[in-house]
Amino acid sequence: MNNFIKIIGFGVLLILSYTLFSVYYVPDINTHKSSKRQRVVLPIEEVGPVAYGEEVYYGRGGCAQCHDSAGDRAPELSLIAAISASRYGASQYTGTATDAVGYLRESMVEPSVYVVEGYGTLLGKKIVSPMPDVSSGSISLNEVELAAVIAYLQAISGLEVTVKMPGAGPKAEEKNGARSKVSKEAEE
Ligand code: HEC
Repeated sequence: MNNFIKIIGFGVLLILSYTLFSVYYVPDINTHKSSKRQRVVLPIEEVGPVAYGEEVYYGRGGCAQCHDSAGDRAPELSLIAAISASRYGASQYTGTATDAVGYLRESMVEPSVYVVEGYGTLLGKKIVSPMPDVSSGSISLNEVELAAVIAYLQAISGLEVTVKMPGAGPKAEEKNGARSKVSKEAEE
């Protein structure tokens, strides 16, 4: 009888410890935040460049996977448009940008032209950016998406949006094909 109680007690303890372990130590896989934002891609004509850029930033662009508020993996970007002059204006700057829009664009399509101090990786003897060129490869943002992300980054920095959107209106966009590409992607 004594042994029986011991065995039951042991079993209960075991179950309890597994439960506590799973509750407190196994991390939640939080699919909430990203999937919610990734699914809704609204047409740029309806929401405007800033909101569209935000969708691209958190969705297809994958920017938030590296750029977060902690800044461990990549620089925090909430003020990047405002502080970009301290990048392209610095003596150690190696790129070709002369304004915020140029710097943001260069950072996205030629990330290794200038690597923010402390974030580079050594490839042979060269320091390169761990960031991919987001206009090609698996991300492949088009011109409209690139400009919209720049608009979004300018807006969150509290600046006026000065980036020129490719195609001045639905008509011009239709003509150069940008519109059909955007709406096609919005449907996906
Ligand atoms: C794989 C991780 C990764 C992804 C994805 C990524 N970045 Fe980056 N990004 C970095 C790292 C690391 C740096 C710093 C090194 C450098 O200067 O390139 C950086 C630098 C930048 C800079 C310059 C920051 C500064 O402080 O001067 C900008 C702007 C930027 N990224 C924008 C973006 C945008 C917009 C996207 C999405 C379209 C994106 N990044 C996606 C890793 C990433």
